[in-house]
Amino acid sequence: MEPAARQSRLPDPARILVTGGAGFIGSAYVRDVLSRRDGTRITVLDKLTYAGNRANLARVESDGEQAARLRFVEGDIADPVVVGTLMDDVDAVVNFAAESHVDRSILEPEAFLVTGVIGVHVLLEAVRAQDAKGRHARFLQVSTDEVYGSVEQGHSKETDALAPRSPYSAAKAAGEHLARSYHVTYGTDVVVTRGSNTYGPYHHPEKLIPLFVTNAIDDGPLPLYGDGLQRRDWLFVGDHAGAIEHVLRRGVPGETYNIPGEAELANREVVERLLARLGKPWSLVRRVEDRPGHDRRYAMDGSKLHALGWRNRTSFDDGLAATVDWFVDNEAWWRAARSGDWQSYYDRQYGARLAASTEASRG
Ligand code: NAD
Ligand code: TYD
Repeated sequence: MEPAARQSRLPDPARILVTGGAGFIGSAYVRDVLSRRDGTRITVLDKLTYAGNRANLARVESDGEQAARLRFVEGDIADPVVVGTLMDDVDAVVNFAAESHVDRSILEPEAFLVTGVIGVHVLLEAVRAQDAKGRHARFLQVSTDEVYGSVEQGHSKETDALAPRSPYSAAKAAGEHLARSYHVTYGTDVVVTRGSNTYGPYHHPEKLIPLFVTNAIDDGPLPLYGDGLQRRDWLFVGDHAGAIEHVLRRGVPGETYNIPGEAELANREVVERLLARLGKPWSLVRRVEDRPGHDRRYAMDGSKLHALGWRNRTSFDDGLAATVDWFVDNEAWWRAARSGDWQSYYDRQYGARLAASTEASRG
């Protein structure tokens, strides 16, 4: 017999452990939740990999009232000692921590598995140990539409089989399978979200939109993979963070929720629009060798999340304009993010591709 699901209502105000809270989406979640000024307390656990950045939390750390409700701990979710010390006073864990870039997972997959599988396991064990002491905590695993694999037509539903095709998406699929297995086996209060391609301020410049915007600001080349007709469904970061908070509060234990952006576009169209906002020419775009195993399309059905009462608020045009303008206004932030291993990563990923690139057709 399966153990009874534990109750899922969070106390108000809640104490939340946010892992990966110095990254792109995690920091947006922390900024949004703390700025409600409703007493919620957050502990961020972040390893500060190349993608983690304390500056992403500067806005809350410089506000006395919000800073008093934020604690920052530098550490690894795969380290049971660190994780164990943070669990005692939490009502929920929201796990954003992951290696998040598909191209890096193709170059060096191992870190994706350590954080995405062992790290998730360590967090789940810590939540289970709390339950054993009678101190309930809910666990939300932040996952991705990429677990469905390439979707040639239609829209993926939560009940569809998973078919991940990159080391990144395979690690993410493993993480969410593990989370649901704890719900079934131990009665752990688990919910899973699958967000679509997210964009917005503080996005690391390795990803399509911020890479192209920042290269274009410098009049540098924009490396478009293959024919540029791959399709993604774009979700503004504030909507992604808001939907995660909504599922944390209202999601049914053991359930999984798609978070679509409801803005499906071919990559070429996205590039056209960001260049138009910047006032830069299409001639910057270069057609380069495709990503191996490149998923052609992602698209999800959002009816389950709608039924839970969530609707996105930001259109793609408004979100893209806000994003492009943020990068124009925050040059110091993205130039600093292009430090550390950035140049060697860029040369490895794009050096030969750009050397062999051709003019990219527009239509
Ligand atoms: P990101 O790369 O910007 O941030 C990841 C954060 O996790 C960084 O702060 C990093 O330092 C931290 N981290 C990495 N490994 C860690 C570890 N072992 N222990 C502690 N911290 C660690 O990623 P993001 O774009 O903000 O994505 C956040 C989550 O959302 C990820 O789980 C990702 O799979 C998922 N997701 C992202 C998108 C997207 O389009 N960006 C879409 C759907 C789902
Ligand atoms: P990306 O931002 O890496 O997100 P994901 O791989 O998770 O969808 O890429 C978005 C799309 O843009 C994807 O189809 C790959 C493509 N792309 C390029 O054409 N050139 C690039 O330099 C990058 C980073 C992505």
